[in-house]
Amino acid sequence: MSAPAIQSRTEAHQLRVVRVDPQDRTAVTASVDLLNAAQRIDDPGDHPAIPELVAGWLEFGWDLEPDERYLAYAAHCDEPVGILDVALPTRDNRHLIWGNIVVHPGHRRHGHGSELLAGLVRRAETEHRDTLWLGTGEDDLGARTFLEHHGFHYASHDARRRQVLADVDQDAVARLHAQASEAAEDYVLERLVPPVPDEVLEQLVEVTAAINDAPMGDLTFEDEVFDLARLQDIETARVGRGDRIYRIAARHRRTGVIGGHTLVGLHPLDPTHAHQGDTAVHRDHRGHRLGLLLKIEMMRWLAEAEPQITEITTWNHADNRYMIDVNEAIGYRLSRVFAAYERSLSDRS
Ligand SMILES: CC(C)(COP(=O)(O)OP(=O)(O)OC[C@H]1O[C@@H](n2cnc3c(N)ncnc32)[C@H](O)[C@@H]1OP(=O)(O)O)[C@@H](O)C(=O)NCCC(=O)NCCS
Repeated sequence: MSAPAIQSRTEAHQLRVVRVDPQDRTAVTASVDLLNAAQRIDDPGDHPAIPELVAGWLEFGWDLEPDERYLAYAAHCDEPVGILDVALPTRDNRHLIWGNIVVHPGHRRHGHGSELLAGLVRRAETEHRDTLWLGTGEDDLGARTFLEHHGFHYASHDARRRQVLADVDQDAVARLHAQASEAAEDYVLERLVPPVPDEVLEQLVEVTAAINDAPMGDLTFEDEVFDLARLQDIETARVGRGDRIYRIAARHRRTGVIGGHTLVGLHPLDPTHAHQGDTAVHRDHRGHRLGLLLKIEMMRWLAEAEPQITEITTWNHADNRYMIDVNEAIGYRLSRVFAAYERSLSDRS
């Protein structure tokens, strides 16, 4: 599928930009090959992407609103030279367009990144969206220079941490579990796997929205809106992508209210590597060590249900001290920090 709004107007370069259809495995694989070539140079601590998993994300996204992906071809070159991903939130934050630009390491400093960025800006104008977000490694001074050159300012930072299970001090974790269980004696923990009934999803709406309390730095961002329909779509997207999902909810014994939850997923094609999803404790239920307890209970459940897992990846805002302290206490260690940049189209100065 072609994408007129992204196509270049630049006489000098004229990239041909083609949207990736998730069903077109050749195109998906071409995008993954490019991303993995870049990852080996830019982010060697990351895992290479897997085409089948990427196809699932491009078809279903996180909540049935997948990103658009475009491959960029230069004249006289059969292989793509770059990728542009575009996310256009519709349920909230409709002022925002969120991009990702990666130029193949062998084709940098030829203006391709600038041309893709110009396409993203035109798309934002077409969609009447004022705020653009792009990100890069905090230590990637070249990409940061590129973004600043194009009028973006540093607005926030996120940290990637990994828990390597073989390195975890299980005795320390057991001691923390005992302390947290005592502090959270008013709560009972429930293990949930899809399909989660609608009445339980409804009870999870408020605690899911508690993720809005996490810091966002200086990014221009509204609270995300959660309702039953969105939680149903998130579940449908997970099933569509083929993920195996584990969620633990902490229910207050006296009121029956779910005060906290945590979620981990993994894909059968990458079974040793799990991904931490949201962990959130509603503000009415803080101070009972629920965050720590939920995460340790999840470690115990995964040890039974998915004993082949060797590593879990988690992401936090780099200033989210409470969550980071919990993660560090159970053995997560910093992998890399990423910078988030923002540009407002109404700020033409
Ligand atoms: C950042 C990235 C997209 C730039 O792509 P590119 O095609 O090389 O960028 P351009 O050729 O359009 O560069 C435009 C200008 O940005 C600046 N710039 C780009 N890369 C730079 C670098 N490594 N060091 C210093 N300045 C740089 C320069 O001013 C450059 O102009 P010049 O070449 O005339 O000096 C590319 O390096 C990349 O894919 N990096 C990894 C992925 C990433 O971090 N993406 C996030 C940024 S959106």
